[in-house]
Amino acid sequence: MTGVLSPLRIGKYIARYPIVQGAMAVRVSGANLAGSVANAGGIGVIASLGLGLSSPYFDQRKRGSFFRANRLALIDELAKVRQISPDGIIGVNILVATRDYQMLAQTAAAQGANLIVTGAGLPLSLPEYTANYPDVALVPSVSNLHSAQLICQTWQRQYNRLPDALIVENCQFVGGHFTECDRVNLPGFSIGSVISQLRHYCQQQLGVNIPLIITGGISDRTDIERMLAMGADGVQIGTRFITTEECDADRRYKEYHLNARVEDIVTVPSPVGKMTRALRNSFAQEVIDGSLSQEQGCIANCLEKCLYRDTGKTYCILQALAKAAHGDVENGLIFSGANVRYTERIMSIAELMAEFTQPCTIPV
Ligand SMILES: Cc1cc2nc3c(=O)[nH]c(=O)nc-3n(C[C@H](O)[C@H](O)[C@H](O)COP(=O)(O)O)c2cc1C
Repeated sequence: MTGVLSPLRIGKYIARYPIVQGAMAVRVSGANLAGSVANAGGIGVIASLGLGLSSPYFDQRKRGSFFRANRLALIDELAKVRQISPDGIIGVNILVATRDYQMLAQTAAAQGANLIVTGAGLPLSLPEYTANYPDVALVPSVSNLHSAQLICQTWQRQYNRLPDALIVENCQFVGGHFTECDRVNLPGFSIGSVISQLRHYCQQQLGVNIPLIITGGISDRTDIERMLAMGADGVQIGTRFITTEECDADRRYKEYHLNARVEDIVTVPSPVGKMTRALRNSFAQEVIDGSLSQEQGCIANCLEKCLYRDTGKTYCILQALAKAAHGDVENGLIFSGANVRYTERIMSIAELMAEFTQPCTIPV
């Protein structure tokens, strides 16, 4: 049973509520969504992947134009978010697997992001990239103890620093790319056990309390309470924020999510070499069936390793995600967490955050 949610401290920042809005690529979580969540007392996160794609800076005919466009579009997005939320806590999510990861991390830190949240890889050199901005909190995403140990040991040895928080992915539910899916069916696997292992490691071996933030499948206050009762300090929520007025994606994308049912969740291979969790549509079905034909080749050379660029297999993830987010919901890839049961209507962030945070007495 509980009443009021406790604040969440990450580095030098204290969020009124222990709720982080998950990054959603290709401007599904842009300045509008992130700024609104931050204004409502959570932590808003701008996804950096593909920001440049639909910006005026991108010219597909020019080599390297995409990376320049991404950097300039991130600067614009951070300026915009500060207009929406001058004092809110704002993070930028950067994927380690992208070729402009270092440049985007430096740009985010220099342009006033409070947090850098990483995904898709181990950010072993991140403290070096942000060394001139010690106030920027560094928050890697991990799915198991081993990844956390590698990051902590490397950062301690090389930079005398530890993560300011860890996002802990629940591979059974998380939207988009997920790791460790082969461990899901092992007897004994549970997000609770990963949290206990991480807590034990931080306290016993590092001698610190690193905030642990669970992500994946969290859709309402009951889910939040369950994660906190399991030992998490906070939650990161992605999919549930899509069906809001403030989400930066096209209305048709939001409505597709709105109408999704649990049986519409599929797992689709990605050019990154991992599985992704998404909603069933023509695109996902064709990838699953192996019948997808791609008209355009690689447009941006965005990933360090890309099956599509390097072998012609799978598809261009940037174009697939962008198509869907711009409203072509049958021919693009629609990432989604596995827990879609609560999306009944498109609501405002103020309303949704109130639903998440109002004092309550819920048996957990
Ligand atoms: C549409 C969508 C796009 C996503 N894009 C990113 C991304 O760019 N970077 C990242 O680290 N995680 C990404 N994720 C994962 C989310 O940040 C978050 O961890 C996940 O959605 C949590 O699970 P939930 O959707 O069940 O709440 C994405 C998820 C979705 C649904």
